[in-house]
Parts: sequence; structure tokens; C-alpha cells
Amino acid sequence: MSSRRRRTALLAVGSAVAAAALLTAPAVAVAAPGDPASPRYADGPEGAGDPYFPLAGNGGTDVLHYDLVLDYTPAPPEPAPLEGHLDGIATIDIVAMQDLDRFNLDLRGLTASSVVVNGLPVSFSQVDNELVISPRPKLKAGTQAQVVVTYVGTTIQPTDIEGALYGWVTTRDGAMVVSEPDGSATWFPSNDHPTDKATYSFEITVPEGLVAVANGLLTGSSTSDGKTTWTWDAPDPMAAYLATASVGDYVLNQYETPGGLPIIDAVDPSRPPSSSAALALTSDMIAFFEERFGPYPFVSYGAIVDDDSVGYALETQTRSFFSRNAREGTVAHELAHQWMGDQVSPYRWADIWLNEGWATYASWMWAEHRGGDTAQQSFDDVMAIPADDPDGFWDVIVADPSPLGLFVDPVYDRGAATLHALRLEIGDDAFFELAQTWVERFGGGTASTHDFIALAEEVSGQDLEAFFDAWVYTGEKPLSW
Ligand code: ARG
Ligand code: ZN
Repeated sequence: MSSRRRRTALLAVGSAVAAAALLTAPAVAVAAPGDPASPRYADGPEGAGDPYFPLAGNGGTDVLHYDLVLDYTPAPPEPAPLEGHLDGIATIDIVAMQDLDRFNLDLRGLTASSVVVNGLPVSFSQVDNELVISPRPKLKAGTQAQVVVTYVGTTIQPTDIEGALYGWVTTRDGAMVVSEPDGSATWFPSNDHPTDKATYSFEITVPEGLVAVANGLLTGSSTSDGKTTWTWDAPDPMAAYLATASVGDYVLNQYETPGGLPIIDAVDPSRPPSSSAALALTSDMIAFFEERFGPYPFVSYGAIVDDDSVGYALETQTRSFFSRNAREGTVAHELAHQWMGDQVSPYRWADIWLNEGWATYASWMWAEHRGGDTAQQSFDDVMAIPADDPDGFWDVIVADPSPLGLFVDPVYDRGAATLHALRLEIGDDAFFELAQTWVERFGGGTASTHDFIALAEEVSGQDLEAFFDAWVYTGEKPLSW
């Protein structure tokens, strides 16, 4: 770790963690007088320590599993605004990471009516988007606890800091649920940060005739009294932003790839067939990316194509979401995210280029495979952008694009160009060994830009400090490649 910039980045993280800790009311030590050996219980920090979203996620706990039982009544067709009704019971298995007097979950725009910890009702409060829980007895570090939160709310159309729709977005026939980066709190109490992955199960009850589509495998559906309950099981550890429970007038298409992977697509029947024709390429794309990134990492795959739009697609884990159209390039992009973004997730949101750069680069490789532009041509197109681009394309520091810059074009295109330049620098063998080792080593968890640089140096045996300084830590067009 010799780079000045890299050290600065790490210091920034450290100081933000300290700042997040300061935001939390100071922990009062409660060691029993005369008993120095008794544990000192404190409050879990109210954020996971991400400088971009200091309150996202929480400290002091590690969630193992979310079991979400949801009952959803969509909005009546008229009048606007669209408002649905959501009743939820979240049973959350956690491990205390410190002696806990209090801990938080993220919950936004919904009202908790009861919280039960290990079978005992406990006191709680809701302050802004934090659900603050005081378990009694207090939780000792290392112990597992079951937290049951019963909650209710009117669902609307939440927006992120950029003003883009995200989270539980109420639609005319149900809901589109896409939560990057911190929108999962709009539909369940969560540790809403990628550093706390967990397994999930879902039981979603909707009016008969609607389909509720979540992550993983469909384990059942049953109808009574005009309501259908859909159950899904997602056993692969998942970041909260990648969970979905989209509800709509979907037709399910289920099949297996030649390799035996279950595929479940859910397409709104009002979409023309052309809007999802590219989904027929899914098996071929999985085989193509497996050759480059290693085995597909999850129990299933598939797509949701909704007739409504949030204006973007999302790589919801095992079940990518598409707004109105699933175009071929986007289908490849979201599929590649299953390895790059979902199986290996960003350690901090500043590391987003590792998601978007890889997924964009993957779609360049897929286009080349299909006889379109080669990856080299796509790279050349990016490098044709002038150094003094009036839109400031080269000004963005892709490894630290700012919270409002997470999804700007340079994160995608300069991110992908960085990977192509790296491939030219270290050669194909090292480049694809790097891609596969990245997924093997960090799969199931998170990794940072620093981790990526270290692994690229390890695999290639080259000093890549100057390379990465120029490509991801400098707001200027790289001079050579
Ligand atoms: N990760 C998504 C993709 O590249 C984009 C999400 C955009 N989200 C947003 N809030 N603008 O496919
Ligand atoms: Zn993407």
C-alpha cells in the first residue's frame, strides 16, 4: 500500500467511521460496580461506516437470515398518486458483534408496531430512517438472536439522493422493487449495506391473479379467499439492495439451461415479444461468462420485465430487473453483474466502478462474441472522447465518484476502458485469471478497489501503481495505454 492516493482513500474511510461513531450517542458503560469483569454493553453504531451513506446499514450486528412475510394490496388504478398497502413480518436472525444495549435496523417510511427479540417484546423507537431496538436481556457479543419486527405502511414511489425512483416502487399493477444503493429499508427492516450479506426467504401474499417474484427459487404458491401466497427461497448470501419482491401481472417462464441451472423469467404480458426476445440468449450468455468469470455463482437465474419503468435495469440477485425492455446489451450487462457486483459486492459505495466497469466490459465482450464491435473498438470509442470533453467525462475519479456520481457514464465506460487497458497491460491469461480469482477469493462477500489492485499485482506479478493512479484515481484522461 505505497500509493499516496490509496492511503488517502483508506484514511477517508477511517475518519468517516469515526464520524459515524460520533453521530451515535456516546455509549454509556454499564459495568456493574465492583464487578470489573462484567460486560460493558454499548449501542451498536447507526451506520455501517460507509462515507457515502453514513446511516446505511448498522454496526454491532451481523444479519444471518431474513424471513420476510409480506401481504401487499396494490394501489387502486385511480386516482393518482399510486399508493399501495404493505403489511410485513420480518423475522431476522442476527449475531451480536459486541455486547449490545441497543442496535438499529434501517426502516424508511414504514411503521413498526411491535419488536420481539428471542420471544420477548422489547422497547423500540423510530427516528428518521432508523429503527432503534433495545433488547432485554441485553445481547452479549457472539450470541445469536431472533428479531421479529411487525410493520405496516402505505407504499409510494420513493426516490434516491439523485431523485431516481427506487426501493418499493408502487405501480399500477403491483410494485417494482429495485433498491440500489440503499432502498431496501423502504420495504423491510434491514442492515442496508453490502458488507452485511444474508440469506433470505419470502412469503408474499397478493390479490389472486397477481404474481410476486423474489430472488432464488420458487418453492410454492397457494390460493385461498381471493389471495395468492408466493414463497421463494434465496439461500445464497445477498446484499440487501439486491433483494426483490416485485409484484405484477407477470407470466412465468421456467426452464433449465443445458448445464441444469433453473431459470425463472417473469414478463408482463402487455409487453411486446420483442421487448424480451433477448432473454432467449440467457443460456448462451451464462456459458460465455462462465468461461471468463468461473461457474455461475447462484441457485437460479432469470429476469423480471415490467410494463412500468424506473428508467433503468438492476442486477437483482438471481433475477435481474428490466424496465419495459430487456435489450440484449442490457441483458448481458445485468447477467455479468451476478458475478461482478452480486457475488463480489462493493466494500464501499465508492467502489461502484468495480460493478459497473466489469458489467459494461462484459457486454463489450458479448457484443464481440456476437459479431458486433470488438472490445477493442468499444475501448477506442471511449478513448476518442477528447481530454477536454465539455461534459467533463475525464474529470470523474472513477474510484471515488461521489454519492451523486455513482451511476454517471464515466463509472461505466471509463471503468470498462480501465479493464480493457489492464487486459492490454497484463495480457489475456493474467487478466482472466484475475477475473476468476477475484470471484473465487471475494465471492459471497465484498471487496474494494484496493483489493482489486492488490490482486491484479499478485496475479500479474507487475507493479500497477502508476497504471491505477492514472486510470481510477486521477480526474484526467490517461496519457498512454
Ligand atoms: N446497477 C444498475 C445497472 O447498471 C443501475 C442502477 C441505477 N440506479 C439508480 N438509482 N440510478 O444496471
Ligand atoms: Zn450495471
